[in-house]
This record gives sequence, C-alpha cells and structure tokens, in this order.
Amino acid sequence: MAGLNFSPGDKVRLRLALKELDGVVLENAQSEVLLLKLDSGYNVGIPKENILAGRVLKKFVEDKKKFFLPKPDKKLKSIGLVVTGGTIASKLDARTGGVAPLTDVSEFANFYPEIFKIANVKKIVVPFMTASESMSSEHWLKIGNSVEELLNDSEIEGVVVTHGTDFLHYTSAVLSFFFVNLNKPVVLTYAQRSVDRASSDANLNLQCAAQMALSNCAEVVLVGHGSTNDDFCFAIRGTKVRKLHTSRRDAFKSVNDKPIAKVFSDKVEFISGYNVKHEGKVRGDFSFNDKVALVKFYPGQDSSILDFYALKYKGIIIEGSGLGHLPVGEQGNDWSLKLKKHIRNGFVVCITSQCIFGRVDPFVYSNGRKLLDAGVVFLEDMLAETAFVKLGWILGHYGWKKNVKEKMLENLAGEINEKLPIM
Ligand code: SIN
Repeated sequence: MAGLNFSPGDKVRLRLALKELDGVVLENAQSEVLLLKLDSGYNVGIPKENILAGRVLKKFVEDKKKFFLPKPDKKLKSIGLVVTGGTIASKLDARTGGVAPLTDVSEFANFYPEIFKIANVKKIVVPFMTASESMSSEHWLKIGNSVEELLNDSEIEGVVVTHGTDFLHYTSAVLSFFFVNLNKPVVLTYAQRSVDRASSDANLNLQCAAQMALSNCAEVVLVGHGSTNDDFCFAIRGTKVRKLHTSRRDAFKSVNDKPIAKVFSDKVEFISGYNVKHEGKVRGDFSFNDKVALVKFYPGQDSSILDFYALKYKGIIIEGSGLGHLPVGEQGNDWSLKLKKHIRNGFVVCITSQCIFGRVDPFVYSNGRKLLDAGVVFLEDMLAETAFVKLGWILGHYGWKKNVKEKMLENLAGEINEKLPIM
C-alpha cells in the first residue's frame, strides 16, 4: 500500500489480506518492506504491497526526560562505580529493535534505583562506553586507573565495575594482575539482558555486586547470577571465571575453583577463602605488552604458523589438546623443530588445555615430555584467557625478561590451583 505514513518507533495496526497485526515499526534500509516488532517480541518483514490499510495506535515520542542522581544517603556506606558499556548500560531502542547505550549516568541511576538503596554511590566514573569486543589493553588501563582512583578514596568501601559480558573475563583477569595487593573489593558485573526486558538479570547482579563491594573481601571478583532464577549470585575469582553460555543469565562459571561467595541482594555468604581488606593506599601495576597472542590448536594446523607469530609477537598461549599436547615426532606435522628454534630465540610458548576444566600435564605421554624439552611452559589449570593477559602483563615488566617462565608458573592472583575442587 502506498502512502503509509509511519516512523520508526510508532506502534501501529496493519490490515493484511487474512489478518490484522499490531507492532512497533523498526528502522529498515529496504524501503519496500515494513519491519515490525510484534508484541510477542519477534520481528517480521511485510512487503508494503501486501498491506491493505494501516493506522498509528501510538506515535513514537523520543524520551527526553532528564534524570537526576539520587541524593547521597549518609546513613549508608559508600561505594564507587565504574560504568564501561555493554548490555548492563543499554536500553531497548524502539526504533531499531536493538539495544543502545544509555546516554547519561543519571539515566543509569533511573534504571537501577535499588543499588542506591544498598550503598551510597559516592562517585561514578565513565572512562568510556563501549562493547567489550571493542576493548583493548588501552581500555583495561583506563578501567585500572578509574578503579585505583576510587580505591584510594578513604570513604569508599569497594568498587563496582559494570561491563559487557563477552570479554568480561579478560578484564577481570587483567585487573587481578594490575592489583595483586588489593586493599578493598573490586567487583565486576554485567547483564545478559537489558534492563527494560522482563527477564533482565541486571538489577539482581548490581544489587549483589554492591553487597560484595561492601564486604571484607579484597579480591577482584565477578558477581553474576548463580542460577537461571532471579534468586542469588556467585562471586567468582577474577582469574578463574569464564563465560560459558551465550544467553543464560548464569553465563559465568567458576572454573577449577569454588566460587568465593554466594551473594544475595541483602547478604553475602562466603564459601571459600579470600584475602581480607587492609588499610592503606593501593597502586596499580599497569605494565602491559600487547605483543602476545592466544591461538587454539586444531588437527592439521601447520606449525609454520609459529613463524608468523614469532616474527610479530613476544609470546603466545596455545590451547593444546586435553593434557596440552601438540603434534611432535613421528609423521609429517612435527611442531618440535619450530618450537625449539623460536623458543631458543626468546619467543615464549605456553600451553593451556582446550578442555577448560582440568589441568595440563606434560608427564603422562612422551609427547608432553618432548614439548617440555623444547621449552614449552605448561600452565597447570590456568584458563587460556587468564594466561593470555598474564603473559601480556609479565612481558610488560622489562625487569622480568629472564624469569618469564618462573613468573608464569607463580601463583600471583589465584590463577593456579594446586588442588582442583570437586565440582
Ligand atoms: C558486550 O559488550 O560484551 C556485548 C554486550 C553484552 O553482552 O553485555
């Protein structure tokens, strides 16, 4: 039908040959198709020639409301908040049907009033607003600086960092190394579903994060849903956490470690040991060398890939087989020659497991021993992502150049567990 006068965001009713449809008009580059978000949440594209009639039920009006941060409640203990983007700092955009970043910190306060009832949010810092896939070590440094500033405010008990989910476990690991001698809690949290969805996990995650930030635990932890229900969260050590599901609210799991605590909106129940708070200022150790890579081994992978990395990088983490093997010896694809050559020239090669859970072990098969002989470092039960940021951090310290292997195997921030818990 020609002459449909709808704008993105309008709620409309359409008459088609066999039925009527209600929905919200979405932006669409194809002018001959009307894209509609139905009340069920599904999007449909309707050729305009199939629309017999249509009318606007509710015209879209951009929300220009100005929000204000709540007044500090002096009866509550104070926390600091670092906001960095991701779904937790986004809302549904009626015009595109997708989520878009919140534009103002006060809007954040409007969406999440509950956290302001648990703690006095003394200071909010927004070093940048970006999705976690767009982050680099520069963003990690900016988060580190913001966290350090808040930790050194004597009125602040702990810091909450909100972050996109996808690469959150890299940031939690890198902050764990930046602040190995932490004085107060640093709590990262997230949302898998934006706050304007009924199933959003954001509010509980934030409330539990605030409870954890007020606790006595001076560790970098990630706090998020412990189950698919909206009942409790786990606080998981920053070096032992991984996103293991694309969409579930309890996407993050503790790997080769017990969670530190079970956290509710009104209390923290500790499950395992942790470092306790102490007086005094903290200084982040923000050294980082970007010339590190993380590569997954797959059957048939050519060892000449090492030539490329050794040319451009200082070190590499390879996710090997379950126990940490790469092909050596016997037939055709022998990695040992290239490994020996590059390691001799100062290139660092470390191995983690493709399995995620469990520990690499070079002593079970002769293959592992040959890799060890070539100078490969087997990283125990360390997660590959944690190993990647740890290697970048260690190589960022010029003075440690001769001890990279020893430092990689030193348990600096809970990243190595001698005894794996039964989970
Ligand atoms: C991201 O920033 O990781 C993507 C959105 C999200 O999962 O929070």
